[in-house]
Amino acid sequence: MTLMKTTKIRAGMVGVGMIFEETYWPLFVQAHRHGCYRRDLGAYEIQLSATASLTGRRAAGYVDHANAIGMPPITNCYGSDALPRLLASGVDAVCIATPDDRHFEAAKAALEAGKHILIEKPSVLSLHQLDELTALARKKDVLARVVYHKLADPDHKKLRTHVVDGVLNHVNNGYCSLLEPKSIATGQFSEWVNGRNPGTYVAVHYIKLIDFTFGGSWRLSRVSANGQRGIVGVAGGTTWDSVQLQMTYVYPDGREAAFDIHTSWVTPDDFPGYVDQEVQFRFDNAVWLAHQRKRGVEVAVENRTPRELKNTPNHHYNGKFIEPWGERSQRGYGIEVIGRFFEEVAFVEYGPASERNARLEAMRSLHYTDLEADRATVATVQAMEAILAAHAGGKPGAVVKIDAPQGLTIYLPGEAGEVLYDRKIQA
Ligand SMILES: NC(=O)c1ccc[n+]([C@@H]2O[C@H](COP(=O)([O-])OP(=O)(O)OC[C@H]3O[C@@H](n4cnc5c(N)ncnc54)[C@H](O)[C@@H]3O)[C@@H](O)[C@H]2O)c1
Repeated sequence: MTLMKTTKIRAGMVGVGMIFEETYWPLFVQAHRHGCYRRDLGAYEIQLSATASLTGRRAAGYVDHANAIGMPPITNCYGSDALPRLLASGVDAVCIATPDDRHFEAAKAALEAGKHILIEKPSVLSLHQLDELTALARKKDVLARVVYHKLADPDHKKLRTHVVDGVLNHVNNGYCSLLEPKSIATGQFSEWVNGRNPGTYVAVHYIKLIDFTFGGSWRLSRVSANGQRGIVGVAGGTTWDSVQLQMTYVYPDGREAAFDIHTSWVTPDDFPGYVDQEVQFRFDNAVWLAHQRKRGVEVAVENRTPRELKNTPNHHYNGKFIEPWGERSQRGYGIEVIGRFFEEVAFVEYGPASERNARLEAMRSLHYTDLEADRATVATVQAMEAILAAHAGGKPGAVVKIDAPQGLTIYLPGEAGEVLYDRKIQA
């Protein structure tokens, strides 16, 4: 791969749904308005140059908006050949925000075409898929990244800072919950929600937070999960309303740490906050409790809360503001973290060609986002998916051993283990 000729990163966007609207689009607009700069990289541009989606209908609105505000034209690709057309249109980096069981194909095609990629969480659903993508990224000398924006939440950054600095010592257990409104599962996601579960969709935020924040010496040992059905789909079907996941880690001295993560996408739409998110972590010497929507603001507006506006909004993730200097803006950690991906691409590409490999390796060593460091999270997702599939097939109560000698292995009650992945999972 040669250096880019201009200091402009042309982005391709695969999937133009809710998360594109919330985080990618504001980033592209902001990058168009203000450009980007870092002393060691100089000025560089991020340009949304093509989109790929099923129907192109939503994308057409962004094309019009882009024209109206003087952004360079966006090629709107849709239908069965949307992805090959996007890849052939001259993009440098591809962002993938399709439903979670459709990330792999798009990511593989983009890597094969030699593009840097950023995948929405969860990266992929199995370790086999992860192996294939990480090998391809190495072969093509490009970055393969996954976004977990909660790692950029100031409260989570402070949590990790305290852990790294030794203020919080040795986590033992904890719980996390993330509850999404019912309108999401039954409306926005109705095209792909069949056969899916809210655990894979949102527990991954906390799986990654736990693994990244407290990880290092410990090993993920086992995963169990339970769930309920009957609201989004039928009671005995494969579509889940809510999921309770438990993951257990073992430290080198044999002590264990266990975490429960509860998720749902059937919370009433008149809930006071858009998404309910809470964590509690207990250490040898401390307890940490955090609530993402109860950070101080409580508001009630006649006839507008709690549906159109929420009573307890989270303005840190992503908010629309009028800045004190009069400009309208949209900002928050959900948007910053997308900008950071492009900064890392710029870092790899905009320097002496002879040092490109060293810069690429430096970026690959950033475990918060690199696909190579996503193994424990993907192993947990694969385990949870297998446990829920067994449950839907009439065999509830399975446990997956992540560190079984033969590899990732599912144990159904009263049955011999079945190996799901037969290679080493953790270094
Ligand atoms: N970071 C976060 O907090 C966050 C929040 C929401 C969603 N997400 C992730 O983003 C991804 C998308 O979620 P969403 O909420 O935007 O979903 P969505 O249903 O709103 O949008 C999905 C988009 O993907 C497109 N699409 C579907 N299949 C496709 C295919 N085969 N090829 C090309 N395009 C295809 C659809 O046309 C649509 O534009 C998921 O992986 C989800 O987990 C992340």
